[in-house]
Amino acid sequence: MSKSKESSKLYELRELKEKATLGGGEKRIEEQHKKGKLTARERLEVLLDRNSFEEIDALVEHRSYDFGLEKQKYPGDGVVTGTGTIDGRLVFVFSQDFTVFGGSLSEAHAEKICKIMDMAMKVGAPLIGLNDSGGARIQEGVVSLGGYADIFLRNTLASGVIPQISAVMGPCAGGAVYSPAITDFTFMVKNTSYMFVTGPNVVKTVTHEDVSFEDLGGAITHATKSGVAHFACENEVDCLQSIRKLFGFLPPNNLDDPPTRESKDRPGRVEERLNSIVPDNPSKPYDIKEVIRLVVDDGDFFEVHELFAQNIVVGFARLDGTSVGIIANQPAVLAGVLDIDSSTKGARFVRFCDAFNIPLVVFEDVPGFLPGTDQEWRGIIKHGAKLLYAFCEATVPKITVITRKAYGGAYDVMNSKHIRGDFNFAWPTAEIAVMGPKGAVEIIFKKEIEKAPDKAKALEEMVENYRTKFANPYIAAGRGYIDDIIEPAETRSRLIRALSILGNKVDINPKKKHGNIPL
Ligand code: HXC
Repeated sequence: MSKSKESSKLYELRELKEKATLGGGEKRIEEQHKKGKLTARERLEVLLDRNSFEEIDALVEHRSYDFGLEKQKYPGDGVVTGTGTIDGRLVFVFSQDFTVFGGSLSEAHAEKICKIMDMAMKVGAPLIGLNDSGGARIQEGVVSLGGYADIFLRNTLASGVIPQISAVMGPCAGGAVYSPAITDFTFMVKNTSYMFVTGPNVVKTVTHEDVSFEDLGGAITHATKSGVAHFACENEVDCLQSIRKLFGFLPPNNLDDPPTRESKDRPGRVEERLNSIVPDNPSKPYDIKEVIRLVVDDGDFFEVHELFAQNIVVGFARLDGTSVGIIANQPAVLAGVLDIDSSTKGARFVRFCDAFNIPLVVFEDVPGFLPGTDQEWRGIIKHGAKLLYAFCEATVPKITVITRKAYGGAYDVMNSKHIRGDFNFAWPTAEIAVMGPKGAVEIIFKKEIEKAPDKAKALEEMVENYRTKFANPYIAAGRGYIDDIIEPAETRSRLIRALSILGNKVDINPKKKHGNIPL
């Protein structure tokens, strides 16, 4: 090739690549910025390690000839795809580009996403999708719908094989919502992203409700009410940095162990403050997150679903450098009772950790399941069963610390010894019984109380007797249902030793196609 021919070929290539980086053009990029949003490529710069992004399919174009689309072609067709690293660890990414046809999904756009999903599965690396899209490319009709279904299928097949993380950073409506919904974690950005099956206009026509985009499907709505979003972030940079942080706790796939990170926090650190954290009065609340922070490496607890069903707390932390998934009843919210939302929140988290070899650490202080017609009619039985099922089927190392109440069915559910808890510890403040003292004596001593001249005094005495006899951990420890009663201050070192003992744990469930978790 002559020198001038070579340079013209290179010029052509560079021009094409340059055009691809501009997406829908300067004007649309400006509009994107005016909305407080980054472009698809700017987002990848924040998400990935510097200069680590390897793009593929930058020159893919749509193949549509209807509605004048043949005259509007943009290399890349509205989605940027490829690989990169986060803290040096490989990840596959797609980032939808709203500046090209509103990030809408064409056949070619879908094929690009499917291609990197397939590669991620072959290589065994996580997938992160940054969604910002007007949905199906309207001009392409059913071909676009097919493209969505191709993605949903891959999301489902990849579930439990590689971690999948979605960020919704703009519109995400109609069937498009089901890709993030199938993935493991969904991030949203306050005020600039929304997700709904049908938008405010359709809602108005069908149910006559007046509701804004934000109220119907904004980040706060989904983080607090529906639980669809695990994280509601302040802005896009906050969102992308939080994804980086989450990524650091996760293994690349279901056959690998989670990454470890060295910590200067001593494994044997004794934390005296834990000895007095549980109030003497059993009805007085305390903050279980304080307990968690005092126990884990460097007090660093990465909470998941922070704003949803706050009566249970779930999230990631490290113990002597090892990633663990923490599930804790929160006595500071609704006394830590288990209800529908907290059961499903806990169950999904337990199943994620189990799928990806992340040991489970449970802090238990639960008075039982929430009574009432609302809960019963909406199916607390089947939803509570999800949490039970999730703990039962989990084969990763499973450790429980009962800090205070472990009553009724909730005692069984919260990773008890009977459902394969490996190490079950209790603090001396633990109360393990069929039900709380007052409820118990009102049933078993009903006649005696009725006959007593001073009913209130009789009740009080009986409650006290019951508390002394049953509301403690010693009966359970005497049976071996509790492996040891430990001093709260030693919790960190006991958990770390238990995890080390369980390092090579193997537990296998019976062979089956899949179980039938009560949905
Ligand atoms: C083709 C689209 C598009 C789409 C937006 N655009 N959505 N092009 N197909 N679905 C184009 C617009 O024509 C416009 O092009 C550019 O993207 C930016 O859109 P604007 O409307 O100017 O932006 P904005 O005002 O921010 O509004 C964003 C929006 C709105 C709310 C998303 O564009 C919108 O309502 N779009 C249609 C949403 C929708 O009904 N999608 C189908 C959903 S059903 P120009 O050239 O003017 O800049 C669905 C089914 C999936 O997705 C099913 C899977 C199973």
